[in-house]
Amino acid sequence: MSLSIGAVILAAGEGKRLKLDAPKPLAPCLDQKLVDFPIQELKKFFEDAKLSGCLTAVVGHKRELVTEYIKNRYSDVEFAIQEKQLGTADALKSYFKANPKYKNFDFTLVICADTPVVSNIELSEMFESLKKENWDAIAATFQEENPFGYGRIVRAAKGFHIVEEKDADNETKKIKEVNSGLYLLRTSYILEHLDKVDSNNKSGEFYLTDIFKDHLNVGVKCFQNGKVFLGVNNLLQLEEVETALRQRIINFHRDNGVRFIDSKNTYIDSQVKIGEGTTIFPCAYLSGKSEIGKNAIIEMGSIIKNSKIEDLCQVFAYSSIEDSIMKKGSSAGPYARLRPGTVLGEKSKIGNFVELKKAVLESGVKVSHLSYVGDAFIGEETNIGCGFITCNYDGVNKHVTKIGKNCFIGSDSQTIAPVEIGDDCFVASSSTISKDMPKGAFAISRGHQVTKENLAHRFIKKK
Ligand code: UD1
Ligand code: CA
Repeated sequence: MSLSIGAVILAAGEGKRLKLDAPKPLAPCLDQKLVDFPIQELKKFFEDAKLSGCLTAVVGHKRELVTEYIKNRYSDVEFAIQEKQLGTADALKSYFKANPKYKNFDFTLVICADTPVVSNIELSEMFESLKKENWDAIAATFQEENPFGYGRIVRAAKGFHIVEEKDADNETKKIKEVNSGLYLLRTSYILEHLDKVDSNNKSGEFYLTDIFKDHLNVGVKCFQNGKVFLGVNNLLQLEEVETALRQRIINFHRDNGVRFIDSKNTYIDSQVKIGEGTTIFPCAYLSGKSEIGKNAIIEMGSIIKNSKIEDLCQVFAYSSIEDSIMKKGSSAGPYARLRPGTVLGEKSKIGNFVELKKAVLESGVKVSHLSYVGDAFIGEETNIGCGFITCNYDGVNKHVTKIGKNCFIGSDSQTIAPVEIGDDCFVASSSTISKDMPKGAFAISRGHQVTKENLAHRFIKKK
């Protein structure tokens, strides 16, 4: 039979020091919120270790917001309400009060909502240590050069106890082994000791840390890399955890064959996928549910949001791509803007200062310079000259422009939508096309040129 764990995410605290309107669990972190990270790592841990049990968030401060957010994203997370934030031991009491079934799980895991870098690797290691040593409870600890603010680990011949910063004397303050706030306990052990925890300390709070005692069958797992337990209590720590999470994401992609020119200045959100052989230049910002294929190039300063960039595509410097698709071997930029609803066909080319919106371009289309193409469809192998504009907006409504395949649209032309140009058409440079053109047609609409010999001097002004 598989072992069962009740996982408790402590998320009732206020997080005043962050100076955000949102309650701390909903503080932004990469493209998600702080609380998303422990939930997702716990889910991985449950899956990998084939555990049964459930995840419960203890909510309190602004609990409606926290509950709504979690419910919308994770239908299987349960909730316990802590009415008053009387301390972490009190939070755990609220948890056991919320549902009697929690007392039946073999183990109880406690994690804080404000430590987003902790991963399922640390969770598994804790679980293995606890089982190997046959302890009743284990706390994750680490060595910290600057231990201020953390609970200090005071080890005994058997067992250990934790002294919070506020309650520590000068000798205890010198201890560098600190408490991470991550614990795994046999549920029977908690039920035996939790009610004995009092609030006789400087904060007057019920500390969960007091559940660990000398002489009892409890131990610590001291982790080499304490950075994974960094808690977010202020904006500097938020930036630090985001940097650490981002670095982890980049390492993952690098291990899968993605080349970074300067990973420290590259921003990739957690859900982005990138294929092997792709090169990412400095200051690229890839976010949302973006997918980059294999052997693609994403140059300096490009922003890619919720977009699919297929194999062998090239996104040249300073391009912005949102809710769009670039099909295999297509290219965009430098300085291209693909707004939502754009599809670039295979091997199509978008050049500098070209803006596309809800534009579907079939394969081999070229729009090389200074153009706006909106609410448009362009057939394969059509070439659009420099400075072309789809006039799609009449002040009230947007209208569609359709251009067939193998067309040549001369530079400095406009189409006044709604309008349709058939296949194999030729539009002369500087034309304004407001009427449909049938297949194979030629159109020109510009003023006739008048040339007067020797008249220039009249118009050339000299000082
Ligand atoms: C806690 C530990 C400390 C450890 C540190 C690591 C205690 C008493 N101290 O201190 O030993 O070194 O984490 O970061 O546990 N919370 C509730 N209800 C409450 C109080 C807190 O749900 O009544 C939640 C908070 O939202 C937070 C977590 O518990 O997610 C920890 O609380 P926090 O106040 O941040 O504890 P620290 O002072 O950081
Ligand atoms: Ca904290």
